[in-house]
Amino acid sequence: MKRQKLHLKAPDNWVNDPNGFIYYKGYYHLFYQYFPYAPRWGTMHWGHAVSKDLVSWEHKGLALYPTLKEDRNGCFSGSAVEDGGKMYLVYTGVRYEAVNPDDPHLCLDDQFEASQLMISSENGLTFDNENGKEVIIPALQDPEIGDRTHTRDPKVWKGRNGWMLILGSTVHGKYGEALLYHSTDLHNWKYLNKVSKGPRYGWMWECPDYFETEGGGVFLVSAMGFSKNNENEKNHAICFRAALRQEDGQMELSDDYQFLDYGMDLYAPQTTPDAEGRRTMIAWVRMPKVTEEGWIGMFCSPRVVEIKRGHIYFRLHPEIRKAYSRKITDAGEASENGYMARFSLENGESVDIGGYVIKREDNRLITDRTAVFPNFEGAHLKSETPELKEGCRLEVLVDKNLIEIFVNDGEYVVSSAVYGLKNRFIHRIQGSVELYTSES
Ligand code: FRU
Repeated sequence: MKRQKLHLKAPDNWVNDPNGFIYYKGYYHLFYQYFPYAPRWGTMHWGHAVSKDLVSWEHKGLALYPTLKEDRNGCFSGSAVEDGGKMYLVYTGVRYEAVNPDDPHLCLDDQFEASQLMISSENGLTFDNENGKEVIIPALQDPEIGDRTHTRDPKVWKGRNGWMLILGSTVHGKYGEALLYHSTDLHNWKYLNKVSKGPRYGWMWECPDYFETEGGGVFLVSAMGFSKNNENEKNHAICFRAALRQEDGQMELSDDYQFLDYGMDLYAPQTTPDAEGRRTMIAWVRMPKVTEEGWIGMFCSPRVVEIKRGHIYFRLHPEIRKAYSRKITDAGEASENGYMARFSLENGESVDIGGYVIKREDNRLITDRTAVFPNFEGAHLKSETPELKEGCRLEVLVDKNLIEIFVNDGEYVVSSAVYGLKNRFIHRIQGSVELYTSES
């Protein structure tokens, strides 16, 4: 099976959301939304990759595929938990009520029904798709709770008093909401409560995730229709500080939000505690165009999520930093896994990484990918962080199709998909630049 290092990418064809991210029996498992037949979205399967260290990954092929009436048109996103040594995958099954007459892999006019399903595995490697699936939350029938069609992406975790589950949904197609459920056995679920922020935050919430860190709770969500001004990039992943009362599922969200990543390419994040208990996040990097090798869709480097002084940080996972350990003097010496550049920028200074420009201006970090991005209608080329509070120390990971900039150890992150990057590094700065690559 295909192996990849440092950045996990589609093994072939198409991937979108990360699913079922978990550290289980000494391995990280990352499942993902996968269309195995062509490099475009279609009937969803779950692909599967495993890693010992979050650095080297091995693709394991298909884990889930449609076999039941309830998931016959797709196994949509979901999560994983461990209980009594078994791995449980909880996901959304989709059944089209009208198929697109021109394409059996697409629905007609959003006429579909969504149910929540579960499957277990003794070893995290084999899944009995034929006989092992169970519907745990049937398609919703009460529109006052949530939508029969647009309710999906169950995230399950072990709460203080039993299992908790959070689902994305919409209030009558007008604004996004998340639904909270409780269970004592993973099989029987009771609806507890819902949380929403009104119409300013998109019409539907996908892939909700809630977790607690030392500095407080965090709620991540992918809001559909969040931005009104750009047809092709309406959906965005955002995060809030949050507090959840587990007894009745009541959740409070902060007034202010942050983008998950200011490159605006990341979507559908998922988190899990790593081997040391650090809250680790991975997200899908959206790409506009199939690569020369025939695949599309990849995942960002794992990031550790923390709250400090009311701000949500996304720090580069220490295992990734450790992997870029071989010092080089020129970007041309980098291994096939790319390189890491470490430097600081003063206001007005800039660097050019193979055609991708990073600049500090008015104490913000500004990027421009115009020279390394296909001419794609509506796609943004420039990105900008909010004003920086702590100087401008950068760690930049450079891979063939992805640049990730960690500003001030995760105060902000800017990640951008790129195409046709040149193997060079031009700096117009005073201070030094350190370059590192990994062993291949
Ligand atoms: C987010 C999403 C999820 C859904 C999946 C389908 O990108 O739309 O809500 O489960 O992708 O592939």
